[in-house]
Amino acid sequence: MNITLKDGIDWVGHIDWTVRDFHGYKTESGSTYNAYLIRDEKSAVIDAVKAPYADKLLEHIQALTDLENINYVVCNHAEPDHSGGLPGLMAACPQAELVCNPKCKSALEMHYDTSAWNWHVVADGDTISLGKRTLSFINTPMVHWPESMFTYVPEDKLLFSMDAFGQHHASAFRFDDEEPLDVILQEAKAYYANIVMLYGRPIAQTMARAAELEIEMIAPSHGVIWRSHIKDVFAAYQKWVVCKPAPKVIVLYASMWQSTELMARAILEGAQECNVEAQFFNVDNTHSTRIVTEVLDCAAMAIGSPTLNNSLMPAMAGVLCYMSGLRPTNKQGFAFGSYGWSMRGGASAVESSMKEMKIEITRDPIRAQYVPTPEVLAECREAGRQMGKYAEQFAD
Ligand code: FEO
Repeated sequence: MNITLKDGIDWVGHIDWTVRDFHGYKTESGSTYNAYLIRDEKSAVIDAVKAPYADKLLEHIQALTDLENINYVVCNHAEPDHSGGLPGLMAACPQAELVCNPKCKSALEMHYDTSAWNWHVVADGDTISLGKRTLSFINTPMVHWPESMFTYVPEDKLLFSMDAFGQHHASAFRFDDEEPLDVILQEAKAYYANIVMLYGRPIAQTMARAAELEIEMIAPSHGVIWRSHIKDVFAAYQKWVVCKPAPKVIVLYASMWQSTELMARAILEGAQECNVEAQFFNVDNTHSTRIVTEVLDCAAMAIGSPTLNNSLMPAMAGVLCYMSGLRPTNKQGFAFGSYGWSMRGGASAVESSMKEMKIEITRDPIRAQYVPTPEVLAECREAGRQMGKYAEQFAD
């Protein structure tokens, strides 16, 4: 496995092949916790790994240098998937100073016993010389937490970008040109949608700052390192930060006795008459991770649930809760659903949730009492057709 980024800079992280859940994100292809070792006149470790893999991190570092040689441990982000290994690393590296910004110091002090750590607190724009190389620090608040920062090495045109540009993707390969580009861009898209979609504005600001740097390589904290397809991932991020719509619609539904499903299928049929990608998801058998990944670049959504106990189907409530936290923008749509004897909950509750997400509502909910009539199904088809026509305009 090639682990060398540049002469004297190596990957020393851990590949987590079996992790399948990251605070609700279904990580179907595992993940990596990327840490890096820079060996210069002084040596630095950039970021750590999740706590159970601290010994692996130490092994990888020791294969390249003695732990006594580590002068700096940089923490770009305090979330435990990167900081969990810090207590073990700091205990094993007696010379090391923990380098981070003031907010990160506070966060680390709340997570761990840091009483024996030597701190080197940095501000935005500060630098540390390692000898031939410089570490330059750039605060990137809310990418992904308030204390997050980038570390940039100008001599190598190398950006350690922490969560930004990452992918939850376990792989035998460390670099973007060792795997099919469509695979890693899809993983980067899923990561963006499920982890940081709600922070589009600060990410756009961070992108603007990154664009001022000369960059030959981006080394994130998860997934492969970008060295051949930096322009591709930057272009993708430019679209994702504004949830730029594609000619694509989504029909998303839950059903109880197939009435809402019949309505969903009629909406899909209408949308399929248009020149758009029409996707169809039942929340009972599609994970939220997949759904919000597709929502990121859709133009419009029809979302349906029957009334259950004056409320929603629980699986739909869960998906809407997850989606609303991630705050997709630039979408329009409408609600639909069947009911029995009360119209409370169901389509009304779905519409309320869509309004809370600031999805532009295009029409009143479509409802069917018990079983949709041919007239209701015709209304569904027409609503699907209108949704498709709207999405057609986003073709390149
Ligand atoms: Fe990979 Fe926000 O931690």
